[in-house]
Amino acid sequence: MTIRPAELIEAKRNGHEHSAADLTELILAYARDEVPDYQMAAWCMAVYFRGLTGAETYTLTDAMIRSGETLDLGAALGRRVVDKHSTGGVGDKTSIAVGPIVAACGVPFGKMSGRGLGHTGGTLDKLESIPGFRVELTTDEFVTQLREIGLAIVGQTADLVPADKKLYALRDVTATVDIVPLIASSIMSKKLAAGADAIVLDVKVGAGAFMKTRDDAVILAEQMIDLGRRAGRQVVCLLTDMSQPLGAAVGNALEIREAVDTVRGGGPADFTELVVDACARLLALSDLDIDVEEGRRRAEAAVADGSALDAYERWIRAQGGNPSLEQLPVAPVLRQVTASRAGVVTTVDALAVGIAALELGAGRRTKTDAIDHAVGVVCRAKRGDPVEAGDVLAEVHAADENSAAVAAQAVLAAYALGDGSLRRPDVVLDVLQ
Ligand code: URA
Repeated sequence: MTIRPAELIEAKRNGHEHSAADLTELILAYARDEVPDYQMAAWCMAVYFRGLTGAETYTLTDAMIRSGETLDLGAALGRRVVDKHSTGGVGDKTSIAVGPIVAACGVPFGKMSGRGLGHTGGTLDKLESIPGFRVELTTDEFVTQLREIGLAIVGQTADLVPADKKLYALRDVTATVDIVPLIASSIMSKKLAAGADAIVLDVKVGAGAFMKTRDDAVILAEQMIDLGRRAGRQVVCLLTDMSQPLGAAVGNALEIREAVDTVRGGGPADFTELVVDACARLLALSDLDIDVEEGRRRAEAAVADGSALDAYERWIRAQGGNPSLEQLPVAPVLRQVTASRAGVVTTVDALAVGIAALELGAGRRTKTDAIDHAVGVVCRAKRGDPVEAGDVLAEVHAADENSAAVAAQAVLAAYALGDGSLRRPDVVLDVLQ
């Protein structure tokens, strides 16, 4: 079939619905380099203004999956396979704690993750702060490790959903990332192609997330649930708070430490709440045939009896890494950010803390930037915490005194103090399914 991209751009610009055949061919032709970037960029911008119907969004997702290879992990393992995905936030190290707990409960957890761009960190970058850890496994190595130790987190292989890889890079530089049906199809195409039977999605809401408001997050969640339903998979969406950083640590090695503390039972309260909730829902969707409450009980037991920590250490060794926290890089400069007066923390602006960590070198502005795994910010006080004048609000871990001073100012400005009291906010705001 020959398509004329200019006609499809015009049709979308004028608000018409594409036929499944036209849209599929547009995406497959783009993946084959037969449609130039400038036409695809114009089409994305037309979608920004006109949107896609549910049927179009599903067709787009399906076409992206068909642009590459797919995995059938369920068949390879002879098990029902569960997966999780977060839409991205500041301090979001959830998968690194969830994986070992779920694996310790006897459910295989195999996940393909991404790298961070901008103020949101990526799971692969965090894992690469562990000396020796390999994120690039072949598909065979991935499946074998999953079968043998029940846990693997790797980079997405180039053959899986290549159309999304190309389209996402284009959207990134043409102001077309924040389009709900394009985000929904991008995320779900990768999850469906990787072969999960059931998926727990963590849709972040607030200053540090793509979705700034709860209403927008609900629309994204509903579209992803709909895509899962159309593909015959079960999807549960947690709407979670990203107005302040998740947990305390923001920055790669610092987040690994916090994830391990949490797997041991000593993590921050908000992060632990989200980790246990996500584990409970993953276990309830697995083939263990248990409900969410029993899932929660088993997740907590795996933390308490040390089996989750054992699973973490087995996993890190299997991917070539050294699980000892002593081996993680440490930043040379540590600077404390203190409260100038007594009060209650009312705001810890997630975006501002994320950008401060990025400026310290914890993240990358462009795909080729190198990361300093040691640096970052640790938020010792969170919303609802009372503080006295002089108390430590946060710590800045920096490569030198100059960058430490700049980050300390930015982190101080991310905090607001009020009078009176404030209930510590919940991290899980809602569950949609
Ligand atoms: N994450 C993705 O994988 N794709 C998007 O479009 C946005 C966030």
